[in-house]
Amino acid sequence: MSLRHYLQFNDFTKEEYQHLFSRAHWIKDKFKRYEAFTPLQDRTLAMIFEKHSTRTRVSFEAGMLQMGGTVINLSSRDTQLSRGEPIQDVARVITRMVDVVMIRTYEQTIIENFSAHSRVPVINGLTNEYHPCQILADIFTYIEHRGSIQGKTVAWIGDSNNVCNTWLQAAEVLDFNVHVSTPPGYEVEVERAGLYGDKHFKEFQDPMKAAEGADLITTDVWTSMGMEAENEERKRDFADWCVDREMLSVAKKDVLFMHCLPAHRGEEVTAEVIDGPHSVVWDEAENRLHVQKALLEFLLIPQSSTHSST
Ligand code: CP
Ligand code: NVA
Repeated sequence: MSLRHYLQFNDFTKEEYQHLFSRAHWIKDKFKRYEAFTPLQDRTLAMIFEKHSTRTRVSFEAGMLQMGGTVINLSSRDTQLSRGEPIQDVARVITRMVDVVMIRTYEQTIIENFSAHSRVPVINGLTNEYHPCQILADIFTYIEHRGSIQGKTVAWIGDSNNVCNTWLQAAEVLDFNVHVSTPPGYEVEVERAGLYGDKHFKEFQDPMKAAEGADLITTDVWTSMGMEAENEERKRDFADWCVDREMLSVAKKDVLFMHCLPAHRGEEVTAEVIDGPHSVVWDEAENRLHVQKALLEFLLIPQSSTHSST
């Protein structure tokens, strides 16, 4: 198998996602039974963080260690990157020494540039444009609770950010619909979202209309990392884009609520919703671990794509 990277959701096909979800289910089940699964002995993951993280850091590090591998965690401050070493030189050097790299950074072009000079698989741990590992976990969580997502409706309420863009790509790959509602001036940028143009999403000015009949309602912070200077302006602009009980009441009766976290209760979501019975945010966070183990296996052990899931 040739070298594969996971830089955006549409890097993989529907069939490959079916394989990943099935492997994640098998891996999670084994984990819950305290059975060892260590196919990555003597493999090393390097993680480069140019932004903060709780879930991505812990899930990749715990996952790699549980699979028998080792992890090197680098913040940009630790490396010569912060002193101007070209990203392509860093890529050439690091990827002669490790087996896989996970990067959390700013522009998508940085991770694309790194991967173009990499000898090993590169995983996007969040860029300004995309967060594919998050949506991998979110859809796995949806499947666990409700079965196939095909044909279902996801309502995205709030900022059309990296997580929103990734939902939109996922809708094209896995054939479901996304209803997006953002404040004026924050609408989806189709080109930046990397969409094929096969429209699986619809935009609504009124967030209540976007939520109508939804199978899943999801949101994210109003101000993403790197945009802190806009925080006060965004708090004013997004004030009516808070997921609350009233919004849930117009969705399907058994609607799920997701949030990639970290969350700001009282801003993009009320405490009543995120801590309420429709919310699956803790399963969603835990599933980062299981799906990323399946992803590491898929990228590092080529024959894993033909493994039986039973
Ligand atoms: N959802 C997510 O990626 O969380 P962290 O920023 O804590 O990694
Ligand atoms: N949109 C958020 C996601 C954090 C996991 C950000 O980029 O900060």
